[in-house]
Amino acid sequence: MHPKKLATGERYPTIIVVLHWLIVFLTIAMIPMGKNLAALDPQADKLILMQIHAMTGMTIILLSVVRMALHLKGPLPAPDPSWSGWMNLVSKVVHWGLMIVSLLVLVSGAVSFVGFGFLDLVKAGQWAPWPNTEAIPPLDGHRLMIKVLIGLIALHALAALYHQFVRKEQLFQRMWFGSKEE
Ligand code: HEM
Ligand code: HEM
Repeated sequence: MHPKKLATGERYPTIIVVLHWLIVFLTIAMIPMGKNLAALDPQADKLILMQIHAMTGMTIILLSVVRMALHLKGPLPAPDPSWSGWMNLVSKVVHWGLMIVSLLVLVSGAVSFVGFGFLDLVKAGQWAPWPNTEAIPPLDGHRLMIKVLIGLIALHALAALYHQFVRKEQLFQRMWFGSKEE
């Protein structure tokens, strides 16, 4: 049996779909990238990786701000009618949690980068002396918020898979592309 295709009003707007999957891809790539960056001894590669991490991060900030504005502006698809009140509430809380915690990761990274010597190194093209990363409070925030973000992503992804494959709802179709005429 072919599942019914969703009408436009039952899907997220295409622009939100594009932003969602682009942000997912970039954010997930940033986690191992950051770990490798932190583990490297100061050298040319570390400086290059720092630049890539910061530039990708700045891009995610811009995309996330646009996504949050669109999310606030709406209209968003109506909740699945088979969902109970608490499911809708938990999904709202997790979606806002993801957006806010992502923003905290991004801002704590940007503050550490700009205010604690990394930007100066990039501007000078030097990798020494690398800032003491154990003594930068916003970087502690960056590390803590990354842990929270990983937990939220796992929860969110598992919930999405549960709704799609166990409850057999068309959740991924809601966050995917579809033709306008439908
Ligand atoms: C989705 C967003 C981001 C993710 C998932 C992420 C992830 C990470 C991770 C996993 C680390 C290693 C932490 C450790 O174990 O010590 C790290 C370090 C770092 N990140 Fe990010 N980051 C993000 C955004 C940013 C942004 C926007 C900036 C700056 C503009 C930034 C600047 C830094 C800096 C300065 C470090 C420390 C590098 C070092 O140890 O020498 N991050 N990040
Ligand atoms: C960095 C990781 C992620 C973030 C920050 C994130 C964020 C969000 C947010 C905020 C929404 C609400 C809609 C909107 O964008 O305005 C959403 C919906 C959705 N996400 Fe994610 N997401 C992430 C990863 C994933 C992954 C890995 C999956 C799949 C396994 C996934 C599947 C979905 C689906 C299916 C929806 C639609 C839910 C509905 O119908 O209401 N997301 N996501």
